[in-house]
Amino acid sequence: MSQDHESLENLLSEDRHFPPTAQFAAAANAQPDEYARADKDPLAFWDEQAKSLQWDSPWSKTLDWQSPYAKWFIGGKLNASVNALDRHVSQGRGSRVAFHFEGEPGDVRTITYAELLTEVKKAANALIELGIKAGDRVAIYMPMIPEAAVAMLACARIGAPHSVVFGGFSAEALLSRIQDADAKLVITADGGFRKGAAFALKPAVDEALKGQHNVEKVLVVQRTKQETAWTNRDIWWHEIVARQSSEHVAESFDSEHPLFILYTSGTTAKPKGIFHTTGGYLTQVAYTHKMVFDIKPETDVYWCTADVGWITGHSYIVYGPLINGATQVMYEGTPDTPHKGRIFELIAKYGVTILYTAPTLIRTWMKWGDEFPQAHDLTSLRLLGSVGEPINPEAWMWYREVIGGNRCPIVDTWWQTETGAIMISPLPGVTATKPGSAMNAVPGISAKVVDDNAVAVGNGRGGYLILDQPWPSMLRGIWGEDERYKETYWSRFDGIYFAGDGAKLDDEGAIWLLGRVDDVMNVSGHRISTTEVESALVSHESVAEAAVVGAADAMTGQAIVAFVILRGGIEHANGDELNKALRDHVAKQIGAIAKPRQILIVNELPKTRSGKIMRRLLKDVAEDRAVGDATTLADPNVMKLISEGLQSAKSED
Ligand code: WT7
Repeated sequence: MSQDHESLENLLSEDRHFPPTAQFAAAANAQPDEYARADKDPLAFWDEQAKSLQWDSPWSKTLDWQSPYAKWFIGGKLNASVNALDRHVSQGRGSRVAFHFEGEPGDVRTITYAELLTEVKKAANALIELGIKAGDRVAIYMPMIPEAAVAMLACARIGAPHSVVFGGFSAEALLSRIQDADAKLVITADGGFRKGAAFALKPAVDEALKGQHNVEKVLVVQRTKQETAWTNRDIWWHEIVARQSSEHVAESFDSEHPLFILYTSGTTAKPKGIFHTTGGYLTQVAYTHKMVFDIKPETDVYWCTADVGWITGHSYIVYGPLINGATQVMYEGTPDTPHKGRIFELIAKYGVTILYTAPTLIRTWMKWGDEFPQAHDLTSLRLLGSVGEPINPEAWMWYREVIGGNRCPIVDTWWQTETGAIMISPLPGVTATKPGSAMNAVPGISAKVVDDNAVAVGNGRGGYLILDQPWPSMLRGIWGEDERYKETYWSRFDGIYFAGDGAKLDDEGAIWLLGRVDDVMNVSGHRISTTEVESALVSHESVAEAAVVGAADAMTGQAIVAFVILRGGIEHANGDELNKALRDHVAKQIGAIAKPRQILIVNELPKTRSGKIMRRLLKDVAEDRAVGDATTLADPNVMKLISEGLQSAKSED
């Protein structure tokens, strides 16, 4: 193998293990035999899991696999909304709380399964009145309020695939998604509450609909009661939904009926419409939600802090938890409004037992300081989850100690919009976890780390993460772009799904995610993962957050440039000394090869709205170029702040 194709370096070492307590293990939903049962016959295993859903007609065959196209539970018929709601109500669980909703201004709504079902039936009847039929696409552009879930479930109930567009996206982004899916209806709200103020959503819909489209009606939830411009295609949700019958008999849809489209960004500007179908998707989200989060629906209070605009909100707020009859917290606002302890205050208020959040928020909490979590009683927590990007061992340990009181297993869950459900994660009552590792594929799933020739690497080696067997909740394609589907996921290794992530196996075969392979740096012929260097930096006591890029370097091909946010209270007047300390620290943690050429102290990092660092923009700064397209940044000013900060730092030198 040439230098270029050398597998990822395996540099960072981590030897801490955290087995579950005997008590947790004994009571866990997932027991060790789960793996053996699945390995023996994966199809029979998934068949068994699918049986826990309510089907109106049975399937005749488990899987039809014509690579890269899968069909699961062929011929079976079911309704997603019936599985999430009717089933609980008809089996006597109607008075259980589905959502404890907390608005950012502090308004509270408690919604039982029976109430949620009634709302969904009425909303389904309203959609029918508006002419929506099975197969029609509906765009949903909403703040984080219960009506967002009601809208999704009402669409599912009548077989109209929903396309949720995150409420933080612009009018332009909304229009391109409306066009791509050819949506017939938009469901939105006047606005929502965020950072202590009302923001408007409806004007973005009006702006978007100045473009080309086939949208006939816009259904508007009244959330903020702000002044809202009106056209004759607009209808207030409360007017049309309130007068509907609360009877609606759901129709059964084919297992492969499209349930939703969700757009995700790719390497080109045009987002990919990832589409998912019904039976397989629901089977895997319900199974993983039950096993990975160990959900005990009678006693747990589960809180996933994601927005419904992301896949995490689809799979682990709406479909998985509701199918399992869970009681959830739903929060509209930001974690620092009105104060930095808001999330902790709500954990204490509702007695949250299971918390599922993202490393970016965990690192933000670390930066704010321990006094905020410590001011609240977090002893109700019994399980913690993480998703969205690799979690640094340091952040993992902080999450365990400060949030989990050294008591709660942590499940670091790897998956993607495309995979639909969790693929790699510890099982909390079985796995001895390691800080920073997502550990192993969940039962019934096959994930491997391979080299350039698709050959599995051995323990201690790195490579590309692939999924070499079809799975129930896999994407069924990119909406309207068949060639792109094959090209993006199935062409790197012929007929094998390539996730785009690098990973390594440690000496015991546990999987460590190393970030997107596009983020891999090549320093003097050594492939070094941005994640490993970032983890090393964050493990230094003065660092809260770090982003690393490979910048063109005449000597080494690429050189490592690190952007670092210091922890609260750390002065950086002693910049030079600290720079040296950090560079030495990385050298000690990983090796001299990974020593950053340059360390730049900044106050913010450029992130997308889902919290992913936009390294491309940092690379522009590191290579002294004008900063490129920054339209998907959560905070459009951040690059200006970074450049200004660096300019003034230079002039001080
Ligand atoms: C990409 C998928 C799945 C919901 C949220 C993101 C990264 C996700 C982990 C994790 C390391 C992770 C990967 C993946 N990622 N979870 N636990 N450890 N990396 O969904 O926007 O489709 O992004 O997020 O790079 O490919 P998404």
